[in-house]
Amino acid sequence: MAETTTRTGLPKGFRSAEQGWPGLHRIPHPPYRLPLLGDIVGASRHTPLQDSLKYADTLGPIFRRNAFGKEFVFTWGTGLVADLADESRFAKHVGLGVANLRPVAGDGLFTAYNHEPNWQLAHDVLAPGFSREAMAGYHPMMLAVAERLTEHWDRAAAGGRPVDVPGDMTKLTLETIARTGFGHDFGSFERVRPHPFVTAMIGTLTYAQRLNSVPAPLTPLLLRRASRRNAADIAHLNRIVDEVVRVRRAGGRGDGDLLDRMLETAHPETGERLSAENVRRQVITFLVAGHETTSGALSFALHYLSREPGVAARARAEVDRVWGDTPAPGYEQVAKLRYVRRVLDESLRLWPTAPAYAREATRDTVLADEHPMRRGAWTLVLTPMLHRDPEVWGAEAERFDPDRFDAQAVRSRPPHAFKPFGTGARACIGRQFALHEATLVLGLLLRRYELRAEPGYRLRVTERLTLMPEGLRLWPERRGTARPAMPESTGGDEKPTRP
Ligand code: HEM
Repeated sequence: MAETTTRTGLPKGFRSAEQGWPGLHRIPHPPYRLPLLGDIVGASRHTPLQDSLKYADTLGPIFRRNAFGKEFVFTWGTGLVADLADESRFAKHVGLGVANLRPVAGDGLFTAYNHEPNWQLAHDVLAPGFSREAMAGYHPMMLAVAERLTEHWDRAAAGGRPVDVPGDMTKLTLETIARTGFGHDFGSFERVRPHPFVTAMIGTLTYAQRLNSVPAPLTPLLLRRASRRNAADIAHLNRIVDEVVRVRRAGGRGDGDLLDRMLETAHPETGERLSAENVRRQVITFLVAGHETTSGALSFALHYLSREPGVAARARAEVDRVWGDTPAPGYEQVAKLRYVRRVLDESLRLWPTAPAYAREATRDTVLADEHPMRRGAWTLVLTPMLHRDPEVWGAEAERFDPDRFDAQAVRSRPPHAFKPFGTGARACIGRQFALHEATLVLGLLLRRYELRAEPGYRLRVTERLTLMPEGLRLWPERRGTARPAMPESTGGDEKPTRP
């Protein structure tokens, strides 16, 4: 007989909220709920996150949605999210979009169930790859990749041409994680079209999101072609990754990067090593998790910098002051860009590019003394709403204002009000990597260019589990040079940011 429970004794597969929330009837849901179909009136399968933000506005800090009989609870009120951060009662829940990525990433670090032994093993083996020393070692490679970007932008600036910001940031972040982590060069900047790895990755992320908007029994019928394409995408990712590993094994050791750790490092206590299959899962995990979200974060930050001349001028003045005209800013000089970092934080506040994380009760408990949850019941934390909670961020939470992250303002806020990297033991292992890389790149771009916005551009956000500004183009202009002819910029008139 097929197993119906996990090793922890909880039911396998999707756990609908009726099973675990005895007080569910007290949690509001959108109006116009339809039998069998659920809350689909006014919802789009392309923008599930942005639809949830609209519902959150009217339904409040905890609400539920139903899609084809599957009931989910969403949470975003700061008090509720702070309670969910209590690791003695709650843990990561691998469900929805994350569970849909299991066929690609298996028990890799991001998609592993909490009870899977490979999570702890990989975490312990790979965590030193994100230490301060390791980061300082990656810094020169990050700088070298950023120079490829500026060469490309210099050509655009000289020709008065716009740059495709999300496309270029994706090239940059993919090359950065591939080189620092795996000694691999995808040659992204030499390509006109995205590398096939990126195309296959976007395919699998989009498919994982689509699976949530189709009733499970109808998946084989409605997504037949899409699932064939998804299988081909996964096979393609596997082939690319297997080649990266083959080259490393054939060529001997790298310079102690993540791949060396995956292949050679034994667990300090148990002596265990990652299996070949698990290495494949981890390489895919790191190549995907290590670039897609950082690329989005950089793109949103550049959007705001192009729209807020006052902020850009202040950030640029800081870079000039801290870096002077040193051609290659050192590792330590990046952390000194405090205001640039605030720009990044504020962009991640409005658009946390991994916009939700799920938490499950590890025992019967009551959330915030109000909502009983049985062991295994779970909820999705909506970080873009948490980051707009008016009780914490004020009535003007939509306004872009990096000063919200000056030290005193941060101290005055309750803990857990800002969670772009998730929470607890399963929070982002690459946080420092992403912040260092993105601050460095913003510093380099601010120092070198004025960033002019496209006239009439209004922020639109694409969703594929992660968030990305859609169709964002900028005109970089080398500082200290004459302006090439281009349409008048609309910089500075940005309205509140929700599309
Ligand atoms: C701005 C950039 C980034 C954002 C916003 C981000 C966000 C997140 C979030 C929210 C989680 C928790 C997910 C959950 O609870 O289900 C997470 C986990 C993770 N992230 Fe990131 N991330 C970023 C960059 C990176 C980078 C650069 C790497 C690798 C180099 C990385 C690797 C991972 C991994 C492996 C996990 C799973 C950790 C575990 O469960 O042990 N991320 N990230």
